[in-house]
Amino acid sequence: MFAVYADSFSSDDPLSALRLGERPDPEVPDGWTTVTVKAASLNHHDLWSLRGVGLKEAALPMILGCDAAGHDEDGREVVVHAVVSDPAWSGDETFDPKRSLLSERHQGTFADRVAVPRRNLVPKPASLSFEEAACLPTAWLTAYRMLFTRGGLKPGDSVLVQGAGGGVATALITLARAGGLRVLATSRDEAKRQRALEIGAHEVFESGERLPGKVDAVMETVGRATWSHSIRSLRPGGTLVISGTTSGPHLDDAELSRIFFLQISVVGSTMGTRDELASLVSLLDATGTRPLVDRTLPMEQAADGFAAMAGGDVFGKIVFTR
Ligand SMILES: NC(=O)c1ccc[n+]([C@@H]2O[C@H](COP(=O)([O-])OP(=O)(O)OC[C@H]3O[C@@H](n4cnc5c(N)ncnc54)[C@H](OP(=O)(O)O)[C@@H]3O)[C@@H](O)[C@H]2O)c1
Repeated sequence: MFAVYADSFSSDDPLSALRLGERPDPEVPDGWTTVTVKAASLNHHDLWSLRGVGLKEAALPMILGCDAAGHDEDGREVVVHAVVSDPAWSGDETFDPKRSLLSERHQGTFADRVAVPRRNLVPKPASLSFEEAACLPTAWLTAYRMLFTRGGLKPGDSVLVQGAGGGVATALITLARAGGLRVLATSRDEAKRQRALEIGAHEVFESGERLPGKVDAVMETVGRATWSHSIRSLRPGGTLVISGTTSGPHLDDAELSRIFFLQISVVGSTMGTRDELASLVSLLDATGTRPLVDRTLPMEQAADGFAAMAGGDVFGKIVFTR
């Protein structure tokens, strides 16, 4: 079958490790099933994989991609939950120490077919296109859990989203607005700031710009470049939720004094559960809220999508179709 995969790593030039071509059909263990992929979306995770972050050399060649929507073996339209937990695990899958994401230990979604545990399938409502549904399992699910589970935010609260252009960030802005929050966003780029307003931000700011007032919570995926500003933007007792460190995990100043003196909570968040994915799908079905798709490309042109993401030239999700 056709697939987009990694057969080596390169930390400096991740695109040089990208391969497109034939790979064997998926193996289907007991309790697993296959999904015929109609659409799959790109995440920064896929670039990290080409750099050798989160993927072991022994697992190569590895088909990339965490997210997919398509048809199950009975022809039903489904969304794939990307978190694979141990069969013996019960409860919140994101707390399973043995969990992995598709494309880490098991072959990923950028292919004609992907094998997944049966319990990882979530029905796709007819109101969502395959392209929209394919945006949900990683970036959108992460944003949902950051805001409503780990962040505990309620209608009327205020939230700052750092780095407005990213896949997770655009999901955070859109979902926060749909959830009745006051939404502030930063971006380094004026055009992205304008687009952030169009998708639901109430106010936008340059990266690092002082806000007119303090917020209840900050959503972080940028890391080093925005950390200080995030801590300084919080009200006393506020919450910083972090799920990524695109600009690097090592801080110049962790702002420890502010964290204890202002009694700030720093909360980690990773992906989401299958039930949270089902709730997210229901939320979109009920509200008409839709993922922002930056561009849709045939999977054969996946390299163009990877290049755009590596260059930061993205606003919303990049989707590959079959
Ligand atoms: N823990 C999890 O479960 C989980 C799930 C999904 C993603 N993640 C992580 O979250 C991060 C974002 O993922 P994504 O797929 O949304 O990636 P992405 O689409 O590439 O977004 C990255 C965004 O970060 C901002 N940014 C990058 N470098 C910056 C810098 N030096 N200064 C200020 N802003 C900067 C940019 O915003 P502007 O250009 O607008 O400034 C950019 O649009 C990644 O690190 C990813 O690994 C984690």
